[in-house]
Amino acid sequence: MKLRQSISCLELISYSPEQTQKFGAGIGEICLPGDVFLLVGSLGTGKTCLTQGIAWGLGIKEYAASPSFVVVRELYGRLPLYHADLYRLDHIEEIVELGLDDYLYGNSVCVVEWAEKGLSVLPVEHLLIQISYLSDNERKLQLKPSGKRYLEMLAYLNKTLNS
Ligand SMILES: Nc1ncnc2c1ncn2[C@@H]1O[C@H](COP(=O)(O)OP(=O)(O)O)[C@@H](O)[C@H]1O
Ligand SMILES: [Mg+2]
Repeated sequence: MKLRQSISCLELISYSPEQTQKFGAGIGEICLPGDVFLLVGSLGTGKTCLTQGIAWGLGIKEYAASPSFVVVRELYGRLPLYHADLYRLDHIEEIVELGLDDYLYGNSVCVVEWAEKGLSVLPVEHLLIQISYLSDNERKLQLKPSGKRYLEMLAYLNKTLNS
């Protein structure tokens, strides 16, 4: 008999930037068009590091540098990756004016850093990844899915992590 349960939160500890990138790459490899990842966590916790991994998993060769100064970047791999960083934006209107919706509801994979600044105008269905600082090289990653696609993704990631 198989136990079928849906996981509502997956929590893991990364012990190095490389581990965070590798985990990201595993996510990038299974991405489908339209997938949305909302990254939450303070400065230097590893949001860009994780994004780099997702980019690699999508077959992107470029470096997914934090787009803090340009706010948004598009990178091209197996699927396009739209990488936004809301760090420098303080008002919800500024976020709306970016016109992210074409991407967020299109066929790109979207990763949004500092997503907490724009939750009210970002897609309801997403995978939220909260990263917290534990020590110099340790980070806690909490993955919270909203919507069927992300519940399934989490179940898959959980299975691969345990195998
Ligand atoms: N386990 C870890 N996972 C991710 N980054 C880590 C980890 N341990 C140390 N670091 C360091 O933390 C920093 C994270 O930077 P970055 O990804 O730019 O953060 P953010 O985008 O959240 O501001 C990097 O200097 C990285 O080397
Ligand atoms: Mg960053």
